[in-house]
Formats: sequence, structure tokens, C-alpha cells
Amino acid sequence: MTDQKNLPPAGGSAAVVHGIETLAIHAGQPADPATGAVMTPIVTSATFAQSEPGKPDRFEYSRSGNPTRAALEACVAALEGGRHGFAFASGSAATMSLLHTLRPGDEVISGDDVYGGTFRMLDKVLAPLGVRSRFVDMRQLSSISDAFTDATRLVWLETPTNPTLKLFDIGAVCDIAKRRSVPVVVDNTFASPVLQRPLDFGATAVVHSTTKYINGHSDVVGGMLVTDDDELAERVGFLQNAIGAVPSPIDCYLVLRGIKTLPIRMRRHSESATELARRLEKSPKVARVVYPGLPSHEAYELCRRQMKGPGGMISVELEGGLDAARRFLSSLEIFTLAESLGGVESLAEHPALMTHASVPEPTRQQLGITDGLVRLSVGLEGLEDLWDDLSQALGRIG
Ligand SMILES: Cc1ncc(COP(=O)(O)O)c(C=O)c1O
Repeated sequence: MTDQKNLPPAGGSAAVVHGIETLAIHAGQPADPATGAVMTPIVTSATFAQSEPGKPDRFEYSRSGNPTRAALEACVAALEGGRHGFAFASGSAATMSLLHTLRPGDEVISGDDVYGGTFRMLDKVLAPLGVRSRFVDMRQLSSISDAFTDATRLVWLETPTNPTLKLFDIGAVCDIAKRRSVPVVVDNTFASPVLQRPLDFGATAVVHSTTKYINGHSDVVGGMLVTDDDELAERVGFLQNAIGAVPSPIDCYLVLRGIKTLPIRMRRHSESATELARRLEKSPKVARVVYPGLPSHEAYELCRRQMKGPGGMISVELEGGLDAARRFLSSLEIFTLAESLGGVESLAEHPALMTHASVPEPTRQQLGITDGLVRLSVGLEGLEDLWDDLSQALGRIG
């Protein structure tokens, strides 16, 4: 666990409020006092010397705390505007560690369109332990209110969603939950703190798969949780150490390094995706483009109010269903056909056959995950190269 309050300011007065570009480069990362190293050292030591038995200095054992991990935790906490940050070995580990704050008999209200792995944890791991989840369409605020019972202990929200890119009003959901003193957790993986800061809208905690935009280079699997709630932080800190699903110092370093360009990357992801989405919308081979930065998106206005940019993810429904999707995906040359998202490289995938294959067919249909739907993670390559690639692949559909 890293408490922002205990950290030296990142090069400057603690009273100065820095912009997100500056925080991404400096927060939690003062020059190393031992060596003057400007870049955070990778401290691989599993254990730390104690001057007296039972009186460790700041660090004791690397599962409980590690200097490189502490720098990452402080940095992401600063980006999300919270005081407490916790790094995990994956986004799923962050989610699962948080869900361990629940007890048998407790209930969760979750969006019905959350990441498949989150649904699996709630449905296949938590439910047998006696924690029930109610899945609701969070676009309808009344369905959230109706799902509350005396046993509700957590509201789980993901926005934008994967792969249907639905947006939910974080502030409105938090208002409903706050009236019942129930914490709201937002999975902010698709937006990153550069585009959306859920704590500013009243969320209690934010989780990330840092595997995606936060690291941004598709070379680490990791997760983070940030909160400003002291009580929750104490509990999550205990669970982080007790469960032990922590990242290696080398992975923490790589994520820290990736974060330095996060603001600039997110801007470029958004710009390129907006232009590609506009062009795709004009193609006769495309039945529908789902992108929150297009006026045709159902939550375009909410996106403008809640987010600082629409992000790099586009979902495209192709004319011609599964056959067209297969032909399109196998014809791409710059976009790589692969799962995951948020890296510098452009990726494309088929949710129904790949990332969401475990979601039952009727549920996929209900959520809009059709056989013709492909998901694009727009990277940082040249815009015209990306457009040429999409155009030639659309041309192969026939
Ligand atoms: C929105 C979202 N949350 C959480 C996760 C889980 O993260 P990880 O794969 O790092 O465990 C993912 C993974 O794809 C995701 O897309």
C-alpha cells in the first residue's frame, strides 16, 4: 500500500497542484536519495534489513511493500486524484482483492456489460461463496435504484464498456449509491485517468487493468486500485498483503515508464480513433460504427461532459455478418489480430469468437455483441497508414 501523504513531493512544493502531464512524469518519483538516479531504480530485493528485531524501516518484505512498487502506486494514485494506491499482478487480481472485502450474504449491483472476467469472478467465484450479484443496465438509473436491497454493499461500474462502448453517468450512479451509503467502484481501464477521473464524480475507488492504456506497450500484465477512502484503503492494504497478488518490481518499473507518455498517448489515441470512426461511418461495407466521439453515439453528450476525449476504442458492425468479419480481420496488415487493447500498436479482434466467446449467445445478442462486430484498438501508427489498412481490408469483404 502507498499512502500519498507519506511520500516526498515529486520535485517541488507539496502545495503546488500539478497538471496530469507533470504528475505522469514525476508523481511518486523524486530523484533516488541514495544515488541521485533520476529514473526510479528497480529494487529487486525480496527483503529489507532491520536495525532492531520487529522494527522495520519503511520496507520490510517485498510482498508487503517495495520501493519500485511504491513509486508506481503513488503515481497512479496522483493521476486518479486519490491518496491511496495499490498495485496488483493483474487487473483481475485488483478486482478480486477488492471483492474480498465482501462477506457471505452481501450483495453487489453490477453493470450487465462488464468485462467478461469480472462477470466470471462475480458469477463463478463470489456467488458460490455466498455473495450475490444483480446485473443491471446502468443506462437506466431506475434499474439501479430498484436493485438495491438491505444487503447491497457494493456497486460495480465500468464505463466505457467492452466491447459495446456504452457509457454510464458516474455522478448519477454515485448519487444513488451515496443515499444508501454504498461504495461505488469504477473500472476505468478503457478511459484511463487522462480522459476520466471517477473519484471526481464521487466514486469510492477506481480499478485498472494497467495491462492496457496505463502501461500502453503490451509488455506487462498488471492492475491498480486507487481510493481516497481511508477505511477501504486499510482493508485493501491488508488484503493486498494477505492475498499476495502483487506485481514484480520490474513490471512496476515498466508501467511507470509507460505512464510517462500516457497523457500524450491518450490524446493521440483519441484523435486518430475519432478520424477513423468518421471515415468508417461513411463506408458502405459498414452497418454501424460505435464510438463515443461520434454524434451518432447514444451517449455522445455524456461523453463530452464526463470524458476529456472519446478514447482509442472503436466497435464496427460489418455488413455481411460473420463471413465479412472473418475476411476483414484476416486481411488486416497493420492492425494485428489479437486480444487486449490500449497499446501503441493497433489491434483488432472479434468479440463473439475471441474475448467474449464465454458469454452465452443470448446474452451476447442482448448486449449487441453480434457476429459482424469487430473491435479496433487504434494505436499510434500513422493515421493514413491505418486508414489504408482498414480500407483495403474492407475492400476484401466483397
Ligand atoms: C475493462 C477491463 N477490466 C479488467 C480487465 C482484467 O485485466 P487483466 O487482464 O490485467 O487481468 C480487463 C482485461 O481485458 C478489461 O478489459
